[in-house]
Amino acid sequence: MIHQFTHDDLPDLHALSDQAGWEHTPADWHTLLKSGSAFGHRNESGRAISSCVLTAFGNTMTALGMLIVCEENRRLGLAKDLMRHAIKSANPDAHPLILCSGKSVEGFYESFGFKTVERLSKLEAGPNILVPDSGFSSKIDSRSWSAEILKRVVGLDAQVHACDRSTLLTIRAEQAASKTVLLKQGTETLLGYGFGILQGKQLLIGPVIAFNRFTAQEIVRQLIKDHSGSVRIDVMDQRQDLKEVLLEAGFVEVERQPIMLLGATELPGRRDHIFSPTSQAWC
Ligand SMILES: CC(C)(COP(=O)(O)OP(=O)(O)OC[C@H]1O[C@@H](n2cnc3c(N)ncnc32)[C@H](O)[C@@H]1OP(=O)(O)O)[C@@H](O)C(=O)NCCC(=O)NCCS
Repeated sequence: MIHQFTHDDLPDLHALSDQAGWEHTPADWHTLLKSGSAFGHRNESGRAISSCVLTAFGNTMTALGMLIVCEENRRLGLAKDLMRHAIKSANPDAHPLILCSGKSVEGFYESFGFKTVERLSKLEAGPNILVPDSGFSSKIDSRSWSAEILKRVVGLDAQVHACDRSTLLTIRAEQAASKTVLLKQGTETLLGYGFGILQGKQLLIGPVIAFNRFTAQEIVRQLIKDHSGSVRIDVMDQRQDLKEVLLEAGFVEVERQPIMLLGATELPGRRDHIFSPTSQAWC
């Protein structure tokens, strides 16, 4: 039987992602539970032993993430059970379902009809990494976070993703350790924005939504400049230009992963402005 999870399950859910070797913190799970719907199986003592999170973006599409089954309970069909439940409740014929798959489980998702539509590269760097000036830093102004900026960020994000991600962005922004918003110098033209999320000593960068590679590079540069620990960023395949800059700066590609879709053949919006997703749970 599949149960709906609440904040009371947060310690169990964090233990699950920890056991899977994922970097999610209790604060990440708080954001997941607040912006989406988490469900899974419980054992006889009530402990959560599997998880899946659906996050609806307005009435347009839904992201599926955090599919995990506790090691002791694998190969019993629990993940298949979670996927059947997720697909039934998300109704992908009306609202396409998107996910970022681990490389080895692409075939598992294909068996439910998901098709790979994009890929991303997971990049990591050790402490004190520096990203060079793009050459455009003098043409860009930074703006500090405010309710007014959030409204404008949500508007830009809706144009890029072609769906309403305002709930997720509002909650993730509260969690973010750093946020960068860039404007064209001397104007009110919004060029892009990005968040940095602290996961222990690591800073996870994402989303990075930007007008072009130069702006994206400036966003990443600003987000990591005061961080002395390691850094991770997932870069979309269509932005090889940013990936090359980061590899040159010292980042290392750890994995290349598929982004998969059910209920549509291609993603809407202006995806070439997405340099980095908000996180793999919300591609
Ligand atoms: C992937 C995972 C969720 C599967 O859970 P599960 O309950 O063991 O899966 P099921 O028993 O429902 O198996 C479904 C099918 O998935 C495939 N599968 C399961 N685990 C797999 C793995 N580690 N690698 C590749 N394929 C796998 C198999 O085809 C399996 O069918 P089979 O047992 O008849 O061969 C689980 O191994 C897990 O939590 N892994 C760590 C977290 C993770 O990688 N999640 C996926 C993120 S995209």
